Amino acid sequence: MNADLESFIRGWREAYVKQQQAILLFNPELTAKFTIAQQQTFFVIFDELRRHFTGLLGYLAGLAPDQQYKRALLQNWKEENGVSDDGRELFSHDDLYRRAASSVGVDVLVESHAGRTRRSYTDAFNDGFVRFIVEQIVISGRKIGWNRIWSAVEAYELLDNVDYPAFLRLAHSFGLKGEALTFFEIHCLVEHFELGAESLDEIWAVDSDSVRIGFAFIKKLQLTAFRALSDELFVRGK
Ligand SMILES: [Fe+2]
Ligand SMILES: [Fe+2]
Repeated sequence: MNADLESFIRGWREAYVKQQQAILLFNPELTAKFTIAQQQTFFVIFDELRRHFTGLLGYLAGLAPDQQYKRALLQNWKEENGVSDDGRELFSHDDLYRRAASSVGVDVLVESHAGRTRRSYTDAFNDGFVRFIVEQIVISGRKIGWNRIWSAVEAYELLDNVDYPAFLRLAHSFGLKGEALTFFEIHCLVEHFELGAESLDEIWAVDSDSVRIGFAFIKKLQLTAFRALSDELFVRGK
């Protein structure tokens, strides 16, 4: 990877982590004191923040300009849905998440069906991501627009390995054990960023502004949602 891009990402990640650590939700000493109701609320709402990205991968494949991008998106989609290339049975990430949630006694499908997973800030997060995608193409055209979209996707994937170690500590603080932790453990290790890193490098070489725009968008989108979730759990969740 280009050294400038590497150092840009390092700085971006450090700034992100600093702001993330200031959010109470990521303080395991505090979340260890959560009641079971607060633990359940976390799982119910976080489902709304994480679940829609898999669908977005399909939408993005339809907008992607070439096979390199389409293949990366398809590979990512397959991993999310537990599709193996060698006949092995794998769990989808949704299944793993439902298993984790059920360990604190909540069925996220039932909650979703009852309309209890959505908040104004989860809608803002999900709609904001889709709106960003459409807006980039409408305003900047397919070429530059896609550069920005791909940069946002890569920033989002990079955060898997940043956010999930924090979510794993959160899950430990709830007392989750064994298979209930698998969802969090695999996301600490996934390499979805790598699937598109070469393309990001190519974009950086000709249009580094778009990389900065995509990364800034995701940092703000993600931190805004996590802050709102944290506020709900700490202020209203008792
Ligand atoms: Fe996943
Ligand atoms: Fe991912």
